[in-house]
Amino acid sequence: MIQWYRSKGRALPWRNTRDPYAVFIAEIMLQQTQVNRVIPKWYSFLSLYPNWASLASAPPAGLIRQWVGLGYNNRVIRARKTAQIVQKQYHGRLPSAPELLEALPGIGKYTSAALQCFAFGKSVPVVDVNVNRVLTRFYGITTTQKPTHIRELANQALPKKDTYEWNQALMDIGASICKAKTINCTICPLTKSCSTSSAGTIPVTSLSNASQGKYLGSNRYYRGRILNLLKLHMQNRKLGIDQLSTALQQHTSDDNMEQIKKALQGLQRDELVDLHPNYKEPTHVSLPKHL
Ligand code: ADE
Repeated sequence: MIQWYRSKGRALPWRNTRDPYAVFIAEIMLQQTQVNRVIPKWYSFLSLYPNWASLASAPPAGLIRQWVGLGYNNRVIRARKTAQIVQKQYHGRLPSAPELLEALPGIGKYTSAALQCFAFGKSVPVVDVNVNRVLTRFYGITTTQKPTHIRELANQALPKKDTYEWNQALMDIGASICKAKTINCTICPLTKSCSTSSAGTIPVTSLSNASQGKYLGSNRYYRGRILNLLKLHMQNRKLGIDQLSTALQQHTSDDNMEQIKKALQGLQRDELVDLHPNYKEPTHVSLPKHL
Protein backbone atom coordinates (compact mmCIF):
# COMPACT_ATOMS: atom_id res chain seq x y z
CA MET A 1 0.00 0.00 0.00
CA ILE A 2 2.64 2.49 1.02
CA GLN A 3 4.83 1.66 -1.95
CA TRP A 4 1.86 1.90 -4.25
CA TYR A 5 0.89 5.26 -2.76
CA ARG A 6 4.36 6.69 -3.22
CA SER A 7 4.37 5.91 -6.90
CA LYS A 8 0.68 6.06 -7.83
CA GLY A 9 -0.98 8.28 -5.22
CA ARG A 10 -2.57 11.51 -6.39
CA ALA A 11 -0.47 14.65 -6.06
CA LEU A 12 -3.04 16.71 -4.17
CA PRO A 13 -1.89 20.11 -2.93
CA TRP A 14 -3.06 19.71 0.67
CA ARG A 15 -0.80 16.68 0.94
CA ASN A 16 2.16 19.05 0.89
CA THR A 17 1.24 20.85 4.07
CA ARG A 18 0.76 19.90 7.71
CA ASP A 19 -0.52 23.35 8.66
CA PRO A 20 -3.67 22.58 10.66
CA TYR A 21 -5.47 25.58 9.21
CA ALA A 22 -4.75 24.65 5.59
CA VAL A 23 -5.64 21.00 6.25
CA PHE A 24 -8.82 22.10 8.00
CA ILE A 25 -9.90 24.22 5.00
CA ALA A 26 -9.22 21.30 2.66
CA GLU A 27 -11.20 18.85 4.76
CA ILE A 28 -14.16 21.22 5.14
CA MET A 29 -14.21 21.78 1.37
CA LEU A 30 -13.85 18.05 0.69
CA GLN A 31 -16.75 17.15 2.97
CA GLN A 32 -19.25 17.56 0.17
CA THR A 33 -17.32 18.60 -2.91
CA GLN A 34 -15.22 16.60 -5.34
CA VAL A 35 -11.45 16.82 -5.31
CA ASN A 36 -11.04 18.46 -8.73
CA ARG A 37 -13.42 21.26 -7.81
CA VAL A 38 -11.77 21.77 -4.47
CA ILE A 39 -8.19 22.19 -5.73
CA PRO A 40 -8.48 25.69 -7.30
CA LYS A 41 -10.81 26.86 -4.53
CA TRP A 42 -8.43 25.71 -1.83
CA TYR A 43 -5.62 27.80 -3.35
CA SER A 44 -7.72 30.92 -3.85
CA PHE A 45 -9.35 30.70 -0.43
CA LEU A 46 -6.01 30.32 1.33
CA SER A 47 -4.53 33.27 -0.51
CA LEU A 48 -7.41 35.48 0.67
CA TYR A 49 -7.76 33.95 4.14
CA PRO A 50 -4.35 32.48 4.99
CA ASN A 51 -4.87 31.80 8.70
CA TRP A 52 -7.34 31.48 11.59
CA ALA A 53 -7.18 35.20 12.34
CA SER A 54 -8.15 36.28 8.82
CA LEU A 55 -11.00 33.79 8.67
CA ALA A 56 -12.26 34.72 12.13
CA SER A 57 -12.53 38.41 11.25
CA ALA A 58 -13.78 38.02 7.67
CA PRO A 59 -17.24 39.41 6.83
CA PRO A 60 -19.57 36.48 5.97
CA ALA A 61 -20.64 37.99 2.62
CA GLY A 62 -17.10 37.85 1.23
CA LEU A 63 -16.63 34.31 2.50
CA ILE A 64 -19.78 33.13 0.80
CA ARG A 65 -18.67 34.78 -2.43
CA GLN A 66 -15.41 32.84 -2.27
CA TRP A 67 -17.34 29.65 -1.57
CA VAL A 68 -19.28 29.86 -4.86
CA GLY A 69 -18.89 26.62 -6.78
CA LEU A 70 -18.42 24.51 -3.65
CA GLY A 71 -22.03 24.53 -2.44
CA TYR A 72 -23.37 24.21 1.10
CA ASN A 73 -22.49 27.76 2.20
CA ASN A 74 -23.14 27.04 5.84
CA ARG A 75 -19.89 25.09 5.85
CA VAL A 76 -17.88 28.28 5.50
CA ILE A 77 -19.96 30.07 8.11
CA ARG A 78 -19.32 27.22 10.54
CA ALA A 79 -15.63 27.29 9.62
CA ARG A 80 -15.59 30.99 10.51
CA LYS A 81 -17.12 30.21 13.92
CA THR A 82 -14.49 27.56 14.45
CA ALA A 83 -11.79 30.09 13.57
CA GLN A 84 -13.24 32.51 16.12
CA ILE A 85 -13.18 29.82 18.81
CA VAL A 86 -9.64 28.83 17.89
CA GLN A 87 -8.60 32.47 18.20
CA LYS A 88 -10.38 33.15 21.47
CA GLN A 89 -10.20 29.91 23.39
CA TYR A 90 -7.09 28.29 22.00
CA HIS A 91 -4.84 31.30 21.34
CA GLY A 92 -4.83 30.73 17.59
CA ARG A 93 -3.86 27.06 17.70
CA LEU A 94 -6.22 24.28 16.73
CA PRO A 95 -6.42 21.65 19.49
CA SER A 96 -5.56 18.10 18.54
CA ALA A 97 -7.60 16.13 21.09
CA PRO A 98 -10.58 14.43 19.45
CA GLU A 99 -13.11 15.56 22.05
CA LEU A 100 -12.02 19.20 21.64
CA LEU A 101 -12.04 18.99 17.85
CA GLU A 102 -15.46 17.36 17.78
CA ALA A 103 -16.88 20.15 19.95
CA LEU A 104 -16.09 22.68 17.20
CA PRO A 105 -18.75 23.71 14.65
CA GLY A 106 -18.71 21.56 11.51
CA ILE A 107 -16.22 19.02 12.84
CA GLY A 108 -17.60 15.52 13.23
CA LYS A 109 -15.88 12.19 13.74
CA TYR A 110 -14.56 12.06 10.19
CA THR A 111 -13.07 15.56 10.02
CA SER A 112 -11.67 15.16 13.52
CA ALA A 113 -9.84 11.98 12.47
CA ALA A 114 -8.59 13.62 9.27
CA LEU A 115 -7.18 16.55 11.25
CA GLN A 116 -5.59 14.31 13.86
CA CYS A 117 -3.80 12.29 11.21
CA PHE A 118 -3.17 14.76 8.39
CA ALA A 119 -2.33 17.81 10.51
CA PHE A 120 -1.05 16.37 13.78
CA GLY A 121 0.49 13.12 12.56
CA LYS A 122 -1.49 10.93 14.94
CA SER A 123 -1.93 7.29 14.17
CA VAL A 124 -5.72 7.10 13.79
CA PRO A 125 -7.89 5.63 11.03
CA VAL A 126 -9.58 8.13 8.71
CA VAL A 127 -12.78 6.62 7.39
CA ASP A 128 -14.94 8.59 4.97
CA VAL A 129 -17.57 7.06 2.65
CA ASN A 130 -14.92 6.02 0.13
CA VAL A 131 -12.68 4.35 2.67
CA ASN A 132 -15.72 2.73 4.23
CA ARG A 133 -16.56 1.19 0.87
CA VAL A 134 -13.01 -0.08 0.30
CA LEU A 135 -12.82 -1.68 3.75
CA THR A 136 -16.29 -3.17 3.51
CA ARG A 137 -15.38 -4.86 0.26
CA PHE A 138 -11.93 -5.85 1.46
CA TYR A 139 -13.36 -7.67 4.46
CA GLY A 140 -16.30 -9.07 2.50
CA ILE A 141 -18.85 -7.41 4.75
CA THR A 142 -22.27 -7.85 3.22
CA THR A 143 -24.59 -6.12 5.64
CA THR A 144 -24.74 -2.55 6.82
CA GLN A 145 -22.43 -2.00 9.78
CA LYS A 146 -22.27 0.71 12.38
CA PRO A 147 -19.58 3.32 11.58
CA THR A 148 -17.87 2.41 14.85
CA HIS A 149 -17.44 -1.19 13.68
CA ILE A 150 -15.78 -0.14 10.41
CA ARG A 151 -13.58 2.34 12.28
CA GLU A 152 -12.56 -0.48 14.61
CA LEU A 153 -11.57 -2.65 11.63
CA ALA A 154 -9.72 0.30 10.11
CA ASN A 155 -7.94 0.82 13.40
CA GLN A 156 -6.80 -2.80 13.55
CA ALA A 157 -5.53 -2.56 9.99
CA LEU A 158 -3.43 0.56 10.62
CA PRO A 159 0.28 0.03 10.10
CA LYS A 160 2.69 0.97 12.88
CA LYS A 161 4.24 3.74 10.81
CA ASP A 162 3.33 5.73 7.70
CA THR A 163 -0.25 6.12 8.88
CA TYR A 164 -0.61 9.37 6.97
CA GLU A 165 0.23 7.67 3.70
CA TRP A 166 -1.84 4.62 4.55
CA ASN A 167 -4.97 6.70 5.10
CA GLN A 168 -4.40 8.81 2.00
CA ALA A 169 -3.77 5.64 -0.02
CA LEU A 170 -7.11 4.20 1.07
CA MET A 171 -8.77 7.41 -0.08
CA ASP A 172 -7.11 7.16 -3.47
CA ILE A 173 -8.16 3.55 -3.87
CA GLY A 174 -11.74 4.53 -3.06
CA ALA A 175 -11.64 7.48 -5.44
CA SER A 176 -10.02 5.88 -8.45
CA ILE A 177 -10.06 2.07 -8.22
CA CYS A 178 -12.72 0.78 -5.87
CA LYS A 179 -15.48 3.17 -6.89
CA ALA A 180 -19.12 2.91 -5.97
CA LYS A 181 -20.27 1.65 -9.36
CA THR A 182 -17.13 0.26 -10.96
CA ILE A 183 -14.08 -1.52 -9.63
CA ASN A 184 -10.76 -2.24 -11.23
CA CYS A 185 -9.20 -4.97 -9.13
CA THR A 186 -6.38 -5.61 -11.59
CA ILE A 187 -4.59 -2.40 -10.62
CA CYS A 188 -5.47 -2.42 -6.92
CA PRO A 189 -2.65 -2.91 -4.40
CA LEU A 190 -5.07 -4.74 -2.09
CA THR A 191 -6.23 -7.26 -4.62
CA LYS A 192 -4.33 -10.27 -3.25
CA SER A 193 -5.98 -10.24 0.16
CA CYS A 194 -9.28 -8.66 -0.81
CA SER A 195 -12.50 -10.63 -0.32
CA THR A 196 -14.15 -8.92 -3.24
CA SER A 197 -11.44 -8.84 -5.88
CA SER A 198 -12.07 -10.43 -9.28
CA ALA A 199 -12.05 -14.17 -8.70
CA GLY A 200 -13.83 -13.93 -5.38
CA THR A 201 -17.13 -12.52 -4.33
CA ILE A 202 -19.05 -9.41 -5.15
CA PRO A 203 -20.37 -6.52 -3.10
CA VAL A 204 -23.86 -7.35 -1.92
CA THR A 205 -26.32 -4.68 -0.94
CA SER A 206 -27.78 -5.41 2.44
CA LEU A 207 -31.40 -6.24 3.04
CA SER A 208 -33.39 -6.68 6.20
CA ASN A 209 -33.25 -10.22 7.60
CA ALA A 210 -36.85 -11.04 6.75
CA SER A 211 -36.71 -10.02 3.11
CA GLN A 212 -33.23 -11.47 2.83
CA GLY A 213 -34.60 -14.89 3.78
CA LYS A 214 -37.04 -14.93 0.91
CA TYR A 215 -34.80 -13.19 -1.56
CA LEU A 216 -31.55 -15.07 -1.00
CA GLY A 217 -31.29 -17.96 -3.41
CA SER A 218 -34.35 -16.93 -5.42
CA ASN A 219 -34.21 -16.67 -9.19
CA ARG A 220 -34.48 -12.90 -8.89
CA TYR A 221 -31.54 -12.94 -6.51
CA TYR A 222 -29.37 -14.86 -8.96
CA ARG A 223 -30.36 -12.65 -11.86
CA GLY A 224 -29.49 -9.49 -9.92
CA ARG A 225 -26.20 -10.83 -8.59
CA ILE A 226 -25.10 -12.14 -11.97
CA LEU A 227 -25.80 -8.84 -13.71
CA ASN A 228 -24.03 -6.94 -10.97
CA LEU A 229 -21.02 -9.15 -11.18
CA LEU A 230 -20.84 -8.79 -14.94
CA LYS A 231 -21.19 -5.02 -14.77
CA LEU A 232 -18.65 -4.61 -12.00
CA HIS A 233 -15.91 -6.87 -13.19
CA MET A 234 -16.15 -7.72 -16.76
CA GLN A 235 -17.40 -4.91 -18.96
CA ASN A 236 -17.71 -6.79 -22.24
CA ARG A 237 -15.50 -9.73 -21.47
CA LYS A 238 -16.64 -13.27 -20.83
CA LEU A 239 -16.94 -14.69 -17.36
CA GLY A 240 -16.73 -18.41 -16.65
CA ILE A 241 -19.82 -19.95 -15.12
CA ASP A 242 -17.77 -21.82 -12.55
CA GLN A 243 -16.37 -18.43 -11.49
CA LEU A 244 -19.91 -17.17 -11.05
CA SER A 245 -20.69 -20.19 -8.96
CA THR A 246 -17.71 -19.55 -6.68
CA ALA A 247 -18.49 -15.87 -6.43
CA LEU A 248 -22.03 -16.53 -5.29
CA GLN A 249 -21.30 -19.39 -2.95
CA GLN A 250 -20.62 -17.29 0.09
CA HIS A 251 -24.16 -16.00 0.10
CA THR A 252 -26.13 -19.08 -0.88
CA SER A 253 -26.02 -22.84 -0.69
CA ASP A 254 -22.97 -24.77 -1.84
CA ASP A 255 -24.36 -26.19 -5.04
CA ASN A 256 -25.83 -23.35 -6.97
CA MET A 257 -24.95 -24.41 -10.50
CA GLU A 258 -28.46 -25.44 -11.53
CA GLN A 259 -29.93 -22.20 -10.27
CA ILE A 260 -27.23 -20.17 -11.94
CA LYS A 261 -27.92 -21.91 -15.25
CA LYS A 262 -31.63 -21.30 -14.91
CA ALA A 263 -31.08 -17.63 -14.10
CA LEU A 264 -28.65 -17.28 -16.99
CA GLN A 265 -31.05 -18.81 -19.47
CA GLY A 266 -33.78 -16.48 -18.28
CA LEU A 267 -31.43 -13.53 -18.65
CA GLN A 268 -30.55 -14.56 -22.18
CA ARG A 269 -34.24 -14.90 -23.09
CA ASP A 270 -34.64 -11.32 -21.86
CA GLU A 271 -31.60 -10.37 -23.94
CA LEU A 272 -29.73 -9.16 -20.86
CA VAL A 273 -26.76 -11.50 -21.30
CA ASP A 274 -25.10 -13.53 -24.05
CA LEU A 275 -24.37 -17.18 -23.28
CA HIS A 276 -21.40 -19.00 -24.80
CA PRO A 277 -21.02 -21.35 -26.59
CA ASN A 278 -24.79 -21.90 -26.49
CA TYR A 279 -28.00 -21.46 -24.55
CA LYS A 280 -28.35 -25.05 -23.46
CA GLU A 281 -24.90 -25.83 -22.09
CA PRO A 282 -23.26 -22.50 -21.41
CA THR A 283 -19.73 -22.33 -20.02
CA HIS A 284 -19.31 -18.55 -20.24
CA VAL A 285 -21.43 -15.45 -20.07
CA SER A 286 -20.97 -11.82 -21.09
CA LEU A 287 -23.04 -8.68 -21.23
CA PRO A 288 -24.53 -8.13 -24.68
CA LYS A 289 -22.89 -5.40 -26.71
CA HIS A 290 -25.85 -3.05 -26.40
CA LEU A 291 -25.78 -2.91 -22.57
N1 ADE B 1 -11.48 13.55 0.79
C1 ADE B 1 -11.49 13.95 2.06
N2 ADE B 1 -10.25 14.19 2.49
C2 ADE B 1 -9.43 13.96 1.46
C3 ADE B 1 -8.05 14.02 1.29
N3 ADE B 1 -7.27 14.43 2.27
N4 ADE B 1 -7.54 13.68 0.10
C4 ADE B 1 -8.37 13.28 -0.87
N5 ADE B 1 -9.67 13.20 -0.77
C5 ADE B 1 -10.21 13.54 0.38
